Amino acid sequence: MSFHTAYRAKSSDFALSSTPVNQVHCGDAAEVLAGFNSGIADLVITDPPYICGYKDRHGRTVANDRNADRVMPVFGEVYRVLKPDSYCISFYGWTAIAEFTAAWKDAGFRVVGQIVWPKQYTSSTGFMQYQHEAAFVLAKGRPDRPNNPIPDVQPWHYTGNRHHPTEKSIDIIKPLIEAFSQRGDVILDPFLGSGTTALAAALSGRRYIGVELEQKHCARARQRLDAI
Ligand SMILES: C[S@@+](CC[C@H](N)C(=O)[O-])C[C@H]1O[C@@H](n2cnc3c(N)ncnc32)[C@H](O)[C@@H]1O
Repeated sequence: MSFHTAYRAKSSDFALSSTPVNQVHCGDAAEVLAGFNSGIADLVITDPPYICGYKDRHGRTVANDRNADRVMPVFGEVYRVLKPDSYCISFYGWTAIAEFTAAWKDAGFRVVGQIVWPKQYTSSTGFMQYQHEAAFVLAKGRPDRPNNPIPDVQPWHYTGNRHHPTEKSIDIIKPLIEAFSQRGDVILDPFLGSGTTALAAALSGRRYIGVELEQKHCARARQRLDAI
């Protein structure tokens, strides 16, 4: 039996009745989230554009990766649609750390942790050999601490970027979902890309709401979700 049918509605689900869950919403996240009720998501896990002008060796780029004005305002909406006393885990690019921390603080979030994924290889070389990814754990209000806190250094898994130029591994996202949410919870990713967070949520018995700007990535995310 899939988690879709195994899930039993909770009495607190009333606010969800008008918000399509287990769907990929294609559009600008600030605009899409503005149409949702407040307090509908239990947890946000997201991998926004790093604002670094990323281009891979095939010439693939990431939408809005030079445009902080189309990325940072999304965090205000993220804060609103999260339930009171909840978490948002956001990857970030270190070159735009000032913009990210300002956006999170302005939205109302408090930083309660940082997670680092050391890589076994060098992504790029500049002033240093860049060999890790990082995310901040942000709190809205005073959420309960996880029953089984995970280490803040986590194993990195390389995907080969087959589905998306900056694809994260499901194996990276699943431990975060399992530590910071319960079965049946709603996990939101407003920068969904090829659907990794939604897949990790579904495979962990959670529901998901995904938002992605680019049609081609929405299509790929839906295709991957349909295949599980
Ligand atoms: C770093 S990628 C996410 C990759 C994803 N973690 C995966 O595994 O496929 C960020 C994504 O955000 C999308 N994006 C950029 N600006 C957006 C916006 N304003 N609203 C929604 N999506 C946006 C980009 O098209 C891109 O696919």
